[in-house]
Amino acid sequence: MDNLTKPLAGKKVIILGGSAGIGLATAKLAAAEGANVVIVSSNQQRINNALTGLPQGSLGFAVDLSQEENIKTFFENIGKFDHLVYTAGENLRLDIIARTEIADAQKFFNVRFWAAFTAVKYGAPNINDGGSICLISGTAAERPGAGWSVATSICSAMEGFVRAMAVELAPLRVNCVMPGVIKTNLWDSMSETDRAALYKAAEDTLLLKRVGLAEDVALAFVYLMKQKHSTGQNVIVDGGGLLV
Ligand SMILES: NC(=O)c1ccc[n+]([C@@H]2O[C@H](COP(=O)([O-])OP(=O)(O)OC[C@H]3O[C@@H](n4cnc5c(N)ncnc54)[C@H](OP(=O)(O)O)[C@@H]3O)[C@@H](O)[C@H]2O)c1
Repeated sequence: MDNLTKPLAGKKVIILGGSAGIGLATAKLAAAEGANVVIVSSNQQRINNALTGLPQGSLGFAVDLSQEENIKTFFENIGKFDHLVYTAGENLRLDIIARTEIADAQKFFNVRFWAAFTAVKYGAPNINDGGSICLISGTAAERPGAGWSVATSICSAMEGFVRAMAVELAPLRVNCVMPGVIKTNLWDSMSETDRAALYKAAEDTLLLKRVGLAEDVALAFVYLMKQKHSTGQNVIVDGGGLLV
């Protein structure tokens, strides 16, 4: 009966990028639904801090996802599991294309896009029947501002990748969450003034009149793990931002 009312109960959920922000909120919510969570980020100290807010028995590993070999070894060691969530990403850096160094632009794809691609390659064979993969994009894919060439390209690439994987890996479900502006460490590379202005602009313009929280996005990830009949889809969590 519990499998029907609590489909995540006893399921093993791996969250790459689970030490902070959206990933950590997803880990907490999945654990509250009875899942056994495994969080991964590049920093052991942040993993340890995050584990203090998760139920006993939750696991955490420091893995630098920018290296293919690290991802391959992680999945070889972790064995079978049920759901893969990918939310890892460095702090956002935005600039106009005229000031963008091509090498930096390419490097920024490493953790955001190529590591997710690599995690799907090495992780998918370990996923039990009925499991899923949930990746992350962003509303910048559909509504970029000036300075968003790299971040928008990554978001769009991710959406195409999700659709391709939904076709190729079926019946494994592969979906994507598309957040708008969410209050997390992601924006820490901005000055405090710029960040406050970004949040204020979002509060003023969004239909729902507030900046999103990591917990808002976590609900979408948990939904995508629990549902059984959608694949290759985006769930948008943006306070109505794409409509204004
Ligand atoms: N926040 C937003 O407004 C927003 C909007 C749209 C899309 N997104 C997307 O959401 C994703 C998550 O962002 P967030 O807002 O939750 O940011 P966050 O709070 O900064 O979390 C990012 C996570 O990625 C991990 N990480 C970074 N580099 C890593 C590496 N080399 N290896 C392993 N883990 C690494 C970080 O942990 P360590 O530092 O410990 O490694 C942290 O756990 C990002 O990809 C972002 O593009 C966010």
